[in-house]
Amino acid sequence: MKRGRFIVVEGAEGVGKTTQVGQLRLFLEAAGKRVAVTREPGGTAVGERIRELLLHERGARIAPRTELLLMLAARAALVREVVRPALAAGRWVLSDRYDLSSVAYQGHGRGIDPERVAALNAFATGDLKPDLCLVIDLPAEEGLARQRRSARPLDRFESESASFRERVRRGYLEMVRSGGGAVLVAGGGSVEEVRERMIARVRERWPSLEGSAMRRRGRQP
Ligand code: TYD
Repeated sequence: MKRGRFIVVEGAEGVGKTTQVGQLRLFLEAAGKRVAVTREPGGTAVGERIRELLLHERGARIAPRTELLLMLAARAALVREVVRPALAAGRWVLSDRYDLSSVAYQGHGRGIDPERVAALNAFATGDLKPDLCLVIDLPAEEGLARQRRSARPLDRFESESASFRERVRRGYLEMVRSGGGAVLVAGGGSVEEVRERMIARVRERWPSLEGSAMRRRGRQP
């Protein structure tokens, strides 16, 4: 069976990743693909427990290296239990965050050498890299403003300082510029505008997708 494809959506807090992962899922399904959606940290039994600890452990002091290794432990489980089997079964896997989150947050944000984080990512994932990584970018204040409009209580990362947010954002931009293959998508404007930018990038990468999506749409009344 033909291996599926692995698409990752990345970005700092409040850039709209999760909404856009949902939009991409609909697009890929309309193009006839079987899609598996995952999120990080989480997506497995052990990963969801690690997520709880990392995001919601109130008052717990989690040192940067501990935080990094927990993220990586969750990622190793997700790759082994979910991502690789889905790809092998021909599914397209869409992940809300992946390896670059650790480089941006634990590397640039917490101050661990980004190259070391990248090397540990390779170990945790057995060198599985996405076929396409889209980084949604928005000025840090806009992300914050969007988040303030949400009624949910803030988690450990959302409660971080403005300078942490700024380092995370700059970390993503640096990764895009350094030519590692991540693609920048401007996160400003409406959901539909960002969706169209994302889909344009996906079509660039897999031009044959466009045809199937258009045909299907054409069939609708
Ligand atoms: P989530 O609620 O999924 O936030 P978002 O909607 O912003 O994606 O929480 C995930 C949080 O974990 C997010 O603040 C980023 C952080 N994170 C890291 O710091 N390092 C990582 O490797 C990953 C995967 C996430």
